Amino acid sequence: MEVVIKSGAEEAAVPAADAIERLLADKPDAVLGLATGSSPQALYDELVRRYEAGRISFARARGFMLDEYVGLDAGHPERYRNVIERELVGRVDFAPDAVQGPDGLADDPQAAAVAYEQAIADAGGVDLQVLGIGTNGHIAFNEPGSSLASRTRVQPLTAQTREDNARFFDDDVDAVPPLCLTQGLGTIMAARHLVLLASGTGKAAAVRELVEGAVSASWPATIMQHHPHATVLLDEAAASRLERADYYREAYAAKPQWQGF
Ligand code: GLP
Repeated sequence: MEVVIKSGAEEAAVPAADAIERLLADKPDAVLGLATGSSPQALYDELVRRYEAGRISFARARGFMLDEYVGLDAGHPERYRNVIERELVGRVDFAPDAVQGPDGLADDPQAAAVAYEQAIADAGGVDLQVLGIGTNGHIAFNEPGSSLASRTRVQPLTAQTREDNARFFDDDVDAVPPLCLTQGLGTIMAARHLVLLASGTGKAAAVRELVEGAVSASWPATIMQHHPHATVLLDEAAASRLERADYYREAYAAKPQWQGF
């Protein structure tokens, strides 16, 4: 796991944008895994800037979202399909229907989960998966206790996650749906490169477990320690509880330019 500590969230997003720019240059029809939430916003803004500058094109790329609330109206602004459209997809040149997410409005959500796994497999798997992390250590919506081998499925949200996400629902925790569809930890681990972004002190405890804790379903993101190609991009606040922060800084400073991420 490579840990990079930058002064702020915007600076931390740059290496992630570099990795995506390089991937799309090498493989224009790459499959991107797209997270929603506040963590990737700086990255998506940077990708839009590079698209507008003519450095990057998504015209042949495809995308798969990590998760979706169950039961939010098709037009609800916080439905993740609408969030990703607003924050990235509608601002760049993805082809129509090139980005899909789990169907939170399906009559049979579990069947939708199985179909989603198949769609990812049919696309050849995810080349680069963008991730955030919840304050309780979840990735996607894999709450503590999730099987480390889990696949896309229906998952109840913890009270903590609903409280954390109430800020997107006018601070009304009861408006946050209780159920979601989420890629599993096993699904996420099958992506070829994991790029996790975290910023702010609220994430510091989860980041500490992610990078330096024991691998455990109690902190689901720790499964990333088993991934052969995982990049963790942090601001100073999110990195503030890491014991080996100085080492990560030294290692990054010594990294050869050609190596990339
Ligand atoms: C959310 C999402 C995750 C996200 C995480 C952190 O609930 N389901 O995909 O990465 O929790 O959210 P944020 O980036 O808004 O802090």
